[in-house]
Order: sequence, then C-alpha cells, then structure tokens
Amino acid sequence: MTKKSENSRRHFIAGAAATAGLAAAGSFVPTRFAIGAAAPVKVGILLPYSGTYAMLGNSITNALKMRIDQAGGKLAGRAVEYVALDSEMSVPKAPTNTNKLIKKERVDFLVGPVHSGIAAAMAKIVGPRNAPIMIVPNAGHNGITGSLCASNIFRTSFSNWQPAFPGGKVMADDGHKTCVTIAWKYGAGIQMMAAGKENFEKHGGKVVKDIQVPFPKVEFQAFLSEIASIKPDAVFSFFSGGGAVKFVKDYAAAGLKDSIPLYGPGFLTEGVSKAQGAAAEGIKTTLHYAANLDNDANRKFRADYEKAYGTSANVFSVQGFDTGSLLLQAMAAVGGDTGATKDLISVMEGATIADSPRGAWKMSKAHNPIQDIYLRRVKSGENLVLGVAAKDLEDPATGCSMG
Ligand code: BEZ
Repeated sequence: MTKKSENSRRHFIAGAAATAGLAAAGSFVPTRFAIGAAAPVKVGILLPYSGTYAMLGNSITNALKMRIDQAGGKLAGRAVEYVALDSEMSVPKAPTNTNKLIKKERVDFLVGPVHSGIAAAMAKIVGPRNAPIMIVPNAGHNGITGSLCASNIFRTSFSNWQPAFPGGKVMADDGHKTCVTIAWKYGAGIQMMAAGKENFEKHGGKVVKDIQVPFPKVEFQAFLSEIASIKPDAVFSFFSGGGAVKFVKDYAAAGLKDSIPLYGPGFLTEGVSKAQGAAAEGIKTTLHYAANLDNDANRKFRADYEKAYGTSANVFSVQGFDTGSLLLQAMAAVGGDTGATKDLISVMEGATIADSPRGAWKMSKAHNPIQDIYLRRVKSGENLVLGVAAKDLEDPATGCSMG
C-alpha cells in the first residue's frame, strides 16, 4: 500500500463526498489499488474437511460463501476467489499451510481454523506481521484473544472460556455437588474444562476427577467404566463433531445417561444431535447459539441454509456467516481496498454484527465477540433454548494489552 493510496483510504472512510471526489478525478494516475481493484479479493481458508471435525469445516465454509453470495457474491464490488486448504487437524502442518496461503497464494484475508492448537500455531505466524488480517471462525483457544492477541487477528466465534464458564453454575444450580470432567486432551478440552470447573467450585461443587482423552481418539469404554465406579453427581464434557456423536452414544449405551446427567459446552450436541438420536435427548449445554432463537435473522438464516445445502444450520455455520458479514462490512467501508489494513482493522474493531442469527454482538477490545451464552436442552433432536445463562459475556482476555 502506497502512502498516497493509504491517504485516499481515509477519505473513503471520512465520507461519501471524499469518495465522490476521488471517483471524479478521471485523469488521475491510477494507484496500485485502482489497478488492483479489478482483481478478485483472495480469501484463504484453513479448515478441516476430513476427520472428526469435517462437519465443522464444511458448515463454516458453506455459510461464509452463502453470506457473501447473498450480497451479490462480491466484496465491495470485487469478485471473491476462495483458496481453501484442508487443515487435516494437524498442528505440525499448520505453519506450512499458513505460509502457503500467505506467501505463495498471497491471500488478502485468512479465515481459519477450527482447532485451538492450529489457531495458536497460526497466530504465532500472523500476529507479528502487519498483514493479512486473520479471522478465526471457530477455534476457541483463549490465547488468540489473550496472550497471543494481535491487531490483525479477529475472532467471530468464542473463546474456550465463554461457553464453558456458565456451564459450571448450571450444574451447581441443578443441585449437583460432585462432578467428573472428561474431554480431549488439547487446548480446547483443557481450557473449557478448567473454566467449567472454576465456576462449579465457585458455586459449591467439587470436581473429583479430570479425565483427558488423547485427541482425536474415540475409545471411551475404559473411561466410562471409571466414571461408573466413581459415581459423581454429574459429568462435564467437551467433544465435538464425529467424536461427540460417538461419546454421547457410548455414554447412553454404558447405562450412565439416566443416573449421571451429562453437561458441557454446547459443542457436545451441536450439529450432531440428530445423529446422536435418543442418546442426546435431555442433555443440557451452554452455547452462544440455539436452533430456535426467536429473531428474524435466525429464522431467515436457517431457512436459507437448509434450502442451499439440504441440511440444518448450526453454530459453526453461524460463525461462518458472521465472518462473511464482518468481511462485507469492513470491505465496504474501505471501498474494496484490501491494502488499507489499518482502516480495515479499525472498522473491524468497531464492528457490531447486527444481523447475526445468534443475536446482535459486538467486537471486544481484544477482538472477540461480546455475546449472550444460552442454556439449551436437546428435544426431538434439536438444541432448544431454555434461557440466557450469561448476558453479554466478555472473555477476560487475560494477557492481552490491546485496547
Ligand atoms: C477448538 O479446538 O477450539 C474447538 C474445536 C471444536 C469445537 C470447539 C472448539
């Protein structure tokens, strides 16, 4: 970005008059942006399209494209080229994949990932750079908007703390005194279990055992036998995608469903409750979305998504959709100038996503959504809202000095 075009950018933001003035200057020597404006905007995507999180990656990608298609398929009048890589949920491959998108593909924006460990690896590469802007449409690693926070990294999903912390109080309010946690042993599971445990114990409960399952393993039998022998009042759990289907079914098949109620952040049943069938019925979870949220944006979103993809929308597609909204908003404000990084960042920092299916939310100073967390229960295969577990919940952003 030249100084000249960076200055022009401020005029775009300052108002229509400046924009009109620039457009009227028919004889001006085209800046790098003006020449590049005809080129498509490159959106690099690093998400899982194989393995236990494939459903998550596909849901995000579908809804991101649907949102931009609904706005004419363009970002501020420029065509969009998507360059998508399968993350394979591999943390060791994350640096190569990230560098491939940034250096070889020269993407204008980076969207990804789903997995907390990959998010940390990507943030260590992207954060120290000035560009591109990275938008995290799922991975909850607390550090992304905490100790690893950076001016060019935004998140449209949640921090691992956010949906898990209110869940601890839900279990205590339901009268439970003891609990076992069980989750995959990596950033997401560890951070979510810690947050739920903190709030459960703050409200008088006691976590008597933390069980950690190697990721992405789904052999649960020995762990379920251990839970049966401990006999806690409740179990608090994080699994998602294919692993969540298997865990919830195995839990019911082991005869634990009716004697030891299962709780957790909503990923446990999100996007998979139909596949879990009777085993999921009645499970209470906390999340920043529920299928039947009573707002027009959600009703339209669910109908459009079902029509376009022949399957139900879920929280992952909501996060993809909102990523599209954030890109549209920021690109419109800078007149399509992808080189105006500072201005793009300042628009994203002040963004409110008013038409989100989860309800309107705004960006925190650490670049993470400030949002309601809902208490839900599975009924007839749907995650239905019971109430608001935490209103306008903002992540503590521990270790982030931005803002
Ligand atoms: C994570 O790794 O951050 C994550 C993965 C799936 C669902 C939620 C969080």
